[in-house]
Amino acid sequence: MTKKIQAVYQGCFKNLDEIQVSPMSRAFLFSDSIYEVIPFQNRNLICADEHFKRLSFSASELKINLDVEKVKKEVDHLFKNSLCNDGYIYYQVSRGIDDMRSHLYSPDISNETFGYLTPIKFLSRPLKVAICEDIRWGRCDIKTTSLLGNVMQMNNFQDKNCDEIIMHRNNIITEGGASNIFFVRDKKICTSKLSKNILPGITRNILIKVIKENNLPFEEGDFSIDDLKQASSIWFTSSTKGLASVKEVLDCNIKLDQNDELLLTCQALYKAEIIN
Ligand code: PDD
Repeated sequence: MTKKIQAVYQGCFKNLDEIQVSPMSRAFLFSDSIYEVIPFQNRNLICADEHFKRLSFSASELKINLDVEKVKKEVDHLFKNSLCNDGYIYYQVSRGIDDMRSHLYSPDISNETFGYLTPIKFLSRPLKVAICEDIRWGRCDIKTTSLLGNVMQMNNFQDKNCDEIIMHRNNIITEGGASNIFFVRDKKICTSKLSKNILPGITRNILIKVIKENNLPFEEGDFSIDDLKQASSIWFTSSTKGLASVKEVLDCNIKLDQNDELLLTCQALYKAEIIN
């Protein structure tokens, strides 16, 4: 299945299933690694520079050495050598490969890099979601591969056919399991403000830019679950989902309008922005 997926590991381009990784990789042992998912549509990479900038931020917060120019070249090579129109490039940088397992890394460790390109169809169908506690660590603004809190909570609701979750910390909404959240309340678009508790999403940023350019009613802040329960529409943003609306919140009697004016406007503005 992975045969045709083009990948790059430690600077060598090959098929995904030809790559062999050491179990002493700190990505394998400690999730001591960062990543980006860079989407492309109609052969256009979407906001690649913003993704490289966020990768550099994640690297500097974790004191991982990063040669971002090398990352750019490899991403570009994967992209130019693929024929598909729509998809994404996953790129991961781990701190490196240790000789011995130790929480303390050696100062001269050199990083380990891995990327691949895969086609996807950006079809965002309305989602069923569940509200749950945000059990993650205190640096969710860093895009690290340590995603067990997200994975645990998202999978807790898989048997209820939920596609996503809405997480909250002490009743304050943070974000989705793999996306940022927006909702409309009292004819105003609301989203959680940036903090160490959420990822500064690139898609979130694109949408906020067009919301502001078009003078739509908008607030970034701390919103509670009670605020959310008054929403007329809810949607998520991410590089792979684009802008995906919510059709149902599990065990919650929120009436969501798939034709909410601000939702439709945001969908149209977002689409126009990424096609340009
Ligand atoms: N996830 N918040 C979390 C926790 C995420 O994992 C993501 C993206 C986002 C949205 O960020 P962006 O708009 O930059 O994609 C917010 C990616 C797609 C993933 O892990 O696959």
